[in-house]
Amino acid sequence: MTPPPILEGRRLHVTFHSRSGMGRASGPVKALRGVDVRIEPGELVGIVGESGSGKSTLLRALTHLAPVDSGEVLLDGVSTWGWDRDRMRAVFRPSIRMLFQDSGSTLNPGRRVGSILAQAAALAPDGRAGEPGTLLEAVGLSAAFLHRWPRQLSGGEKRRVAMARALATRPRVLLADEPFAGLDVVIQQRVVDELMEIHERLGLAMLVVSHDLSVIRGLAERIMVMKDGVVVESMKAEDFVVERLTHPYSRTLVEAELPLR
Ligand SMILES: Nc1ncnc2c1ncn2[C@@H]1O[C@H](COP(=O)(O)OP(=O)(O)OP(=O)(O)O)[C@@H](O)[C@H]1O
Ligand SMILES: [Mg+2]
Repeated sequence: MTPPPILEGRRLHVTFHSRSGMGRASGPVKALRGVDVRIEPGELVGIVGESGSGKSTLLRALTHLAPVDSGEVLLDGVSTWGWDRDRMRAVFRPSIRMLFQDSGSTLNPGRRVGSILAQAAALAPDGRAGEPGTLLEAVGLSAAFLHRWPRQLSGGEKRRVAMARALATRPRVLLADEPFAGLDVVIQQRVVDELMEIHERLGLAMLVVSHDLSVIRGLAERIMVMKDGVVVESMKAEDFVVERLTHPYSRTLVEAELPLR
């Protein structure tokens, strides 16, 4: 029997009831409209889609950070619906970690790197926590960084520490929101290489979101396309070519990526 996906979202709906600056309701925004997503053990999935298509909301819904109207999130095939805080803390949170956009800026400026990593590792169930020095090594930083303050790190080093922090509980799935945003092409490639290395060495399943199809293509085994709160395409990366795609929008994405000459 094949094992269930590690993490699965079924028919997820999320609506935001936002308000305008004047305190008046500006109408509901349906950010997710029945999204299905499955992440198999050790799989590296990429999500692309235009701004506002619901990519970040999907990651947040999968981690119980967005208000889900209906649908469910399953861990190892078991619905997490109604899990209480203790069960979320003990079982869900250590397994599914999120790397937020601009993760480097999320480090607590009042703690040294070693303390940041130890604090994150404390979330791990008994015996699973990563040791701070080993975590730094996993992201290519020496143990000397344990004593640094976040303000003493370069942008790239901050990002690596944030990655080490996400790995501190030895998660089984890493969700990364736009880890390449705002980086120049060379640094972007370095981040891609780092993610691939960690994915391969740790067998860690990942769901990586980006605006940029060409970057995702270089990274992911499966590519999903979102548009207006819906997943319009989910294809193996090698099949992600115009002739095989089913939705006009994903075809447009590929054509924009490789202009016909
Ligand atoms: N907290 C919120 N309150 C109200 N509306 C929200 C909120 N978060 C997101 N939205 C709306 O939900 C929709 C989806 O937003 P989301 O952030 O998921 O898009 P995205 O695909 O991640 O976009 P981007 O590529 O720009 O990051 C957008 O219309 C957005 O304005
Ligand atoms: Mg986003």
